[in-house]
Amino acid sequence: MVTYVDASAKSRRTPGVIPLHGAEGFEGMRKAGALTAQALDILTEYVEPGVPTSKLDQIAYEFARDNDAVPATLFYKGYRHSVCTSINHVVCHGIPDDRGLREGDIVNVDLTLIVDGWYGDSSRMYPVGEISRKAERLIEVTYAGLEAGLAAAKPGNTTGDIGAAIQAVAEGERMSVVRDFVGHGVGRLFHDEPNILHFGTPGTGVPLKPGMIFTIEPMINLGKPHVKILSDGWTAVTRDRTLSAQCEHSIGITETGHEIFTLSPGGLFNPLEARKRS
Ligand code: MF3
Ligand code: CO
Ligand code: CO
Repeated sequence: MVTYVDASAKSRRTPGVIPLHGAEGFEGMRKAGALTAQALDILTEYVEPGVPTSKLDQIAYEFARDNDAVPATLFYKGYRHSVCTSINHVVCHGIPDDRGLREGDIVNVDLTLIVDGWYGDSSRMYPVGEISRKAERLIEVTYAGLEAGLAAAKPGNTTGDIGAAIQAVAEGERMSVVRDFVGHGVGRLFHDEPNILHFGTPGTGVPLKPGMIFTIEPMINLGKPHVKILSDGWTAVTRDRTLSAQCEHSIGITETGHEIFTLSPGGLFNPLEARKRS
């Protein structure tokens, strides 16, 4: 059974209870999402061969500090960085370090900025110099998967419709959807109800209602879907070491569809596509 509560009435995650947000929540998420997107835009020009991911982390940290925002991952469950940087076969939760990016790498940068208590959560795939055709295809399919998930994000549909749409895109291109990590409710909590699976069966799961706010953040692999966590306790990699890609938006369900809170002001949500356009 699913129950829904007015989000203004609570601030703790309660299993099976999905907060429904009003105008105040949408306004808060608009600001947080816009700032997160602006930071991810700024990172675009820094992603180049030789640049360490710790540099991207530093830029995100300083941007947050200068804009009265707090990076949600900083000191979250012992995590010590402002972004996750997941390179090539790293699926998610890669830890920034001082090694330089290399020509041909693909790197996901995932950033959540807290603004006035609201969490704007988004990630993108950045190509490092020239990348292989198969890496390009993976990124294209991952963004197409998110688009398909977004198209299903409207009242009358369920969370399962979102997952099924993403899965159909990925598997239709003989790629696979990671099962171990999911999208999530977001708002004044980093991770709230409901879970948004990026695979599944149409019509199953939770009915989507106006006021629900959550992320969609599919992780797509060129090979098998299975992941393992490295000994650092964070870094998730593909077991078969094939490439993995991810992109993420924070959205709110409206009466007629959805609003995306983390749209790129510079049209840079897909940096690969943006580069080809220019
Ligand atoms: N931003 C990630 C998400 O999309 C969560 C990162 S948690 C961390 O949900 F601790 F690994 F940073
Ligand atoms: Co997220
Ligand atoms: Co994220």
